[in-house]
Amino acid sequence: MGGEYEKAFKESMEDPEAFWGNVGEDIAWYKKWDKVLDTSNMPFYKWFVGGEMNTCYNALDYHVEEGRGEQTALIYDSPVTDTITKFTYSELKDRVSKIAGFLKGLGVGKGDTVISYMPMIPEALMSMLACARLGAVHSVVFGGFAPKELAIRIDDARPKVILSASCGIEGQKVISYKPLLDEAVDIASHKPERCVILQRPQVSAEMRPGRDMDWMEQEENASPADCVPVKATDPLYILYTSGTTGLPKGVVRDNGGHAVAMKWTMKHIYGINPGDVYWAASDVGWVVGHSYIVYAPLLLGATTLMYEGKPIGTPDPGAFWRVISQHNVKALFTAPTAFRAIKREDPEGKYLEGYDLSSFETLFLAGERLDPDTYHWAANLLKVPVIDHWWQTETGWTIAGNFRGLEEFPVKPGSATVPMPGYDIRILDPVSGEELPRGENGIIAVKLPLPPGTFSTLWQNEKGFKETYMDPYPGYYFTGDGGYVDEDGYVFVMGRVDDVINVSGHRLSTGSMEEIVAEHPDVAECAVMGVADNLRGQVPIGLFVLKSGASKSPQEVASEVVQSVRSEIGAIACFKKAVVVERLPKTRSGKILRGTMRKIADSEEYAIPSTIDDPAVLGEIEMAMGTIGYGKDR
Ligand code: COA
Ligand code: AMP
Repeated sequence: MGGEYEKAFKESMEDPEAFWGNVGEDIAWYKKWDKVLDTSNMPFYKWFVGGEMNTCYNALDYHVEEGRGEQTALIYDSPVTDTITKFTYSELKDRVSKIAGFLKGLGVGKGDTVISYMPMIPEALMSMLACARLGAVHSVVFGGFAPKELAIRIDDARPKVILSASCGIEGQKVISYKPLLDEAVDIASHKPERCVILQRPQVSAEMRPGRDMDWMEQEENASPADCVPVKATDPLYILYTSGTTGLPKGVVRDNGGHAVAMKWTMKHIYGINPGDVYWAASDVGWVVGHSYIVYAPLLLGATTLMYEGKPIGTPDPGAFWRVISQHNVKALFTAPTAFRAIKREDPEGKYLEGYDLSSFETLFLAGERLDPDTYHWAANLLKVPVIDHWWQTETGWTIAGNFRGLEEFPVKPGSATVPMPGYDIRILDPVSGEELPRGENGIIAVKLPLPPGTFSTLWQNEKGFKETYMDPYPGYYFTGDGGYVDEDGYVFVMGRVDDVINVSGHRLSTGSMEEIVAEHPDVAECAVMGVADNLRGQVPIGLFVLKSGASKSPQEVASEVVQSVRSEIGAIACFKKAVVVERLPKTRSGKILRGTMRKIADSEEYAIPSTIDDPAVLGEIEMAMGTIGYGKDR
């Protein structure tokens, strides 16, 4: 080992400009940077200031020029359409250049925004790279979001063009995307000039004349577009993520720092070399998809695998083993939920039999806390290192984790292992903001500046960037997670300290669900909270108080609020249970005691808060929880 980690970490702390400047040499620049790190306007620090490059060039053209044109860049494996397609770096470059060509023809240029609302098909990845090629800013919206959520993102990003497809395929279900897109554009105040639709064979989308265009027709008639040099600090993409309110936050990623960090992580964290097959079983709509289906593997010159299927049911819980063995996957990255789903259907791992997994070296898990049970099950079954790593949409890459390329640490189940180079993790007292000693639980914060590749601001919302992340503990980035660092320096992430929950590794806001429930005309007040779930990690449940003289029965209201959340946020919210209560537990100052209710639902020990207005209400809450299968009856 030789202490490579310690050396890298120490240098990244003591001389970040030297450390990242050295790493930055690995990227092709049209013009080298003037300054590695500009801290003159904190907390808006900037990396590689003065540098010019193009992310798409680095991800595609560079490899073709270096002689890797015939190597496979992308494997598309879709059990739901029974398709496997491979694209070499040259083929991918040609397709992306033509897509960039038609976007250019539609007037898309440097700094313009484009929304991509796509299922897990190669064109989703291509759409992102095509924008990057032109210096346009893409914003990918996860296909599972309902029209209203898409509309919110359209109004914030104000895209010139929206790229979409006629349908997505979710296990056995075919979901028409075009009616959802039409509804979203109708609701939104901002109207895109054009919607370009890829017609998939399963569904033919109806086109709106004058606005909608056929993707393949556009692509066939387009002239290829070249890469446009952009500043390292220019935005590459906006990715919306849930916060504590109904309004999602547009995380902005720059071009230069992002490319530098992505390429470094691929090698050092994931242990991948050019030509290796790497599979992130996520969705391009999430940050894992952005970083590790699209950008990092291609920047490194690896082969990325895009999977349009589920861990179970497409067709069975052996799906992941089939993909790994068929394509010689070296490392898989997914969410613990996927493994819990496989474990539930195939606890003995029988479906593994007959598959040759000799290529497989590491399983990486993230997106939610990795429970020790799932860790042990996966490690025993696969007999390869299982690496938990903690990160967020805001950071774009691992804050704390283990390495397969730098120095591997012994695993402590339940811990994400050690801080990555560039991340100065501190545990703070939530009230005083003072640093806490090792072993004590508090707020996990990162001393500024954050390393390259992390978010530079929120889209057109510098105020929100400061208020949400930088002002709570001045000089630190507030992660929103709580936890501790043990005596060996291992980081334990215990969960969010705000209203954000993780459902199947998908980040959602209980605040936004509460806003929807509260809109019901018969609801006087409500609380939505994330409770523990064996499969999904967490699921939201709702408690509501009826208005006096409500016109509907509690059951009717419950099913209507469930339906509203499904149609306004999407099925992915998994909000399936709501129950009426006479009153909600509150402090004397009127604050709803969500934490105590969550403990009741999870059947955890809880202390009656000293600030509670009326302790008797907790008994009523226990009874109500029991009727929907939570609390003591779990
Ligand atoms: N478009 C439209 N609808 C979608 C969708 C999409 N892209 N993705 C999910 N949905 C729908 C599903 O069809 C389902 O609808 P339903 O309530 O009508 O059944 C609902 O949203 C919930 O989806 P999901 O959480 O995927 O549940 P599931 O029961 O279909 O599958 C798992 C369960 C555990 C297999 C699945 O959640 C999974 O694979 N999780 C891995 C998580 C992951 O990859 N996270 C990414 C971060 S790394
Ligand atoms: P997202 O922005 O969707 O990636 O969600 C980020 C959040 O997921 C974090 O703030 C954590 O709460 C949670 N999370 C991600 N990875 C881990 C992990 N390895 N362990 C614990 N929590 C995690």
